[in-house]
Amino acid sequence: MIRVKNVRKVYPNGFVALDGIDLHISRNEFVYLVGQSGAGKSTLLNMLYKAETPTSGDIYIDNISLSGLAPKQVPYLRRSIGVIFQDYKLLPRRTVYENVAFALRVMHFSRFRIRRQVAQVLELVGLQQKMHNYPSELSGGEQQRICIARAIVNNPPVLLADEPTGSLDPDTSWEIMQLLSKINARQTTVIVATHNKAIVDDIRKRVVAVENGRIIRDEQLGLYNP
Ligand SMILES: Nc1ncnc2c1ncn2[C@@H]1O[C@H](COP(=O)(O)OP(=O)(O)OP(=O)(O)O)[C@@H](O)[C@H]1O
Ligand SMILES: [Mg+2]
Repeated sequence: MIRVKNVRKVYPNGFVALDGIDLHISRNEFVYLVGQSGAGKSTLLNMLYKAETPTSGDIYIDNISLSGLAPKQVPYLRRSIGVIFQDYKLLPRRTVYENVAFALRVMHFSRFRIRRQVAQVLELVGLQQKMHNYPSELSGGEQQRICIARAIVNNPPVLLADEPTGSLDPDTSWEIMQLLSKINARQTTVIVATHNKAIVDDIRKRVVAVENGRIIRDEQLGLYNP
């Protein structure tokens, strides 16, 4: 479903962030992307939803070439890929409900459908009771659960998470990863960039390790360290 072919990324300042990246990810897989800070994990994730473009090589999602996508097709690509970040990026002046509903409003869903889908997804992440709160009134783990709800509210086939537990305590991190596993079990391909060794070694999945812009290891049911 996701094919990365010989991708190289050179940033405008000349820094080579990725080189010779080849990666296949099948539908409904769960993949951890691990590696030191600066290895190129975020760069790789950002290319999957075209927030960054490869300098050479190409990425195919369901056999569609991202380099061949016209600018006006990019929003459609983004609708099929939910993204969550370490620093949440919630709208501070909107309630939890509004933060999650926002994505559906831009897609012109009916009011009935928005209400139903937002309620379903808030139930999935366990935050129906905080629906009318503002992000500043929530804990870090709760804010991250809202981000997850926002990312999956339109049922995208792919969910990308860049260091989703980076700001959370160990127990909350574990809950967030369990939630990502649950979403994966509902037929969603999940790719998580993480430094969380305890979780990678506990909730065992495919591990792709990146070092200096190259993939140095790719193992089913891998560990954080070889
Ligand atoms: N816009 C940019 N211009 C130049 N270099 C960049 C840019 N963005 C990232 N880099 C460099 O590219 C390399 C890979 O960065 P990236 O953010 O992908 O690493 P990462 O693996 O996600 O690290 P971390 O674990 O710290 O998040 C780093 O050395 C970084 O300094
Ligand atoms: Mg990163």
